[in-house]
Amino acid sequence: MQVFKVADQAEGGQKAYELLREAINGGAKTFGLATGSTPVTFYENVVNSDLDFSDKTSINLDEYVGLDGANDQSYRYFMNEHLFNFKPFKENFLPNGKASNLDEEVKRYDGVIDAHPIDFQILGIGGNGHIGFNEPGTSFDVTTHVVDLAPETIAANARFFENESDVPRQAISMGIASILKSKQIVLLAFGKAKAEAVKGMLEGPVTTDCPASVLQNHANVTVIADKEAASLIK
Ligand code: GLP
Repeated sequence: MQVFKVADQAEGGQKAYELLREAINGGAKTFGLATGSTPVTFYENVVNSDLDFSDKTSINLDEYVGLDGANDQSYRYFMNEHLFNFKPFKENFLPNGKASNLDEEVKRYDGVIDAHPIDFQILGIGGNGHIGFNEPGTSFDVTTHVVDLAPETIAANARFFENESDVPRQAISMGIASILKSKQIVLLAFGKAKAEAVKGMLEGPVTTDCPASVLQNHANVTVIADKEAASLIK
């Protein structure tokens, strides 16, 4: 894995944007997208650029079960606010958190990923090493699935909600097997709360205890970490 250490989230977002630009120049057409506070500066750079996505496709990692795009905590809403309202794509795919049949929804989403192989995947990382919503203990072989969120993930994401009890307990997430199919992966990590997870990802054994460690098995991963997130690595 290639690691870039950057001063802060602003520089990290800029670096990720430059990698995206290179990928597009190289022919990338399908983009795996992530939510959370981490990729915000990346999206700012994209929105302020001259890049055109009108013939491009996006596929998001995950969505909360029970929330639809009108809910301001849904990942669909986040993507509209941070990217899609400014940069129209040919198609935007996200799991449907309001699907009446979650088993069918999971199958539908696997079909979407199979039909649109991802050229460039942006990832954040949870403090417990999760990617997407693949919590510690999740098999590396799973594709899209319904996840029971770990207590630490619910607590970490509570900052976006009025009360912790408002945080959905489940999500639909791309699986690790789906994520590993992406041609290129760029993972962003900022802040002290990510330092342990970054160390486990880069220097620890490949283990489901730290889901991001599986990225050691992928041929084209770039990690962009600020000083704090990189503080425990050699
Ligand atoms: C969330 C998302 C992940 C994200 C991670 C970190 O729960 N499902 O895609 O990378 O946790 O979030 P943040 O960037 O806000 O720290």
